[in-house]
Amino acid sequence: MEKRNERQVILFPLPLQGCINPMLQLAKILYSRGFSITIIHTRFNAPKSSDHPIFTFLQIPDGLSESQTQSRDVLLQLTLLNNNCESPFRECLAKLIKPSSDSGTEERKISCLIDDSGWVFTQSVSESFNLPRFVLCAYKFSFFLGHLLVPQIRREGFLPVPDSEAEDLVHEFPPLRKKDLSRIMGTSAQSEPLDSYLHKIIEATKPASGLIVMSCEELDLDSLTESNKVFSFPIFPIGPFHIHDVPASSSSLLEPDQSCIPWLDKHETRSVIYVSLGSIASLNESDFLEIAYGLRNTNQTFLWVVRPGSVHGRDWIESLPSGFMESLEGKGKIVKWAPQLDVLAHRATGGFLTHNGWNSTLESICEGVPMICLPFVWDQFVNARYISEVWRVGIHLEGRIERREIERAVIRLMVESEGEKIRDRIKVLRDEVRRSVKQGGSASRSLDELVDRISIRAA
Ligand code: UDX
Repeated sequence: MEKRNERQVILFPLPLQGCINPMLQLAKILYSRGFSITIIHTRFNAPKSSDHPIFTFLQIPDGLSESQTQSRDVLLQLTLLNNNCESPFRECLAKLIKPSSDSGTEERKISCLIDDSGWVFTQSVSESFNLPRFVLCAYKFSFFLGHLLVPQIRREGFLPVPDSEAEDLVHEFPPLRKKDLSRIMGTSAQSEPLDSYLHKIIEATKPASGLIVMSCEELDLDSLTESNKVFSFPIFPIGPFHIHDVPASSSSLLEPDQSCIPWLDKHETRSVIYVSLGSIASLNESDFLEIAYGLRNTNQTFLWVVRPGSVHGRDWIESLPSGFMESLEGKGKIVKWAPQLDVLAHRATGGFLTHNGWNSTLESICEGVPMICLPFVWDQFVNARYISEVWRVGIHLEGRIERREIERAVIRLMVESEGEKIRDRIKVLRDEVRRSVKQGGSASRSLDELVDRISIRAA
């Protein structure tokens, strides 16, 4: 029998929903391979430890004020967290590695630290304890490689992009188009802090012991092949984490509205368009209303997640005109947070209007649900180009949040023959990706290699 306690891994997620989910999924995968799991986390967006009784959770102070936790400026939050968390993290790690002499226990054998690439102080801390650090890349790997080039692209003067070049491809950062660049690279006020943060990420990643990638060769072969020009350590593309064969459990920070599932049960197969813009994106009121009217005008059934506070200046959906929901005659449901994995896996879900966060994109691919792409920030623009132009498993809205555009895209996907072709293609992609985590598949082999690698120290 495996001696679980002798093989311990410490995980340190970045406190954003899209980063907590992959880290906790990875924890379950490693637990299933015999490692005991300790999760160090900030007070801000603390994961619900009661949902994961098999793991040990240790909270550290993060120094964020109430107003900073409410900020929409994620770059600012990440900068503050990196400034504030180094000492508490170091102290917490010291206690784990060297329990106090009066506790009578021996120094523990910890295999490694696994943390998010967005933590830029953890490499030096882990080196000071002689603890191997593996970096988790929860982005599409081609974005991870490309985003490190953002400061260089900025220096080369791509911005502002003249209209005549807007559709051109960015050769340094495929398959982005030049018109995507300004939205990825932020405003000029953000350029200095962003470039400096990216510089720190690359400097803190290069000396790490390895990179664990939430992708697989089937989705990222070109960039994985390119990666040895940048990194000299091993890279483990272990596939979408949530489809590995481990027990399901939620790591949602918000309570999912479980009434979505019985509601979907009442609808025909592939008849519902699911709409969700992830955990960070927010909208102004007029864009919110354009989506509302666009969905209503399709006469298709929709399930729409509107996070509280995600419509600027409003608590929730009170800007919908009175009688709007009644006018749908049961063909629409709006919730504050959905059990997304179950919704995408439901037979009634036929399409996904998404912001293309990498988790949502993978979750949709793995269920064979075709997408309508409405990226808002950062990696989402790259994911959306792959979906619409490389794999051709979705339709890109090109940022046009207008009722007619939304209506047209939904009809193309859900009703017209174009949607059938897109659906056929995503089923092929789904099968390839799902095969990768099965025994003998590329991601499964990579996971075996990762487990071997981190077991060496614990042996
Ligand atoms: C952003 C980035 O775009 C993403 O690529 C990056 O890795 C993390 O930050 P986010 O807005 O959180 O992501 O989107 P996404 O990566 O899709 O993650 C959202 C997660 O929340 C998904 O796992 C999704 O299943 C879950 N979710 C979303 C729910 O459980 N319920 C909902 O109602 C909406």
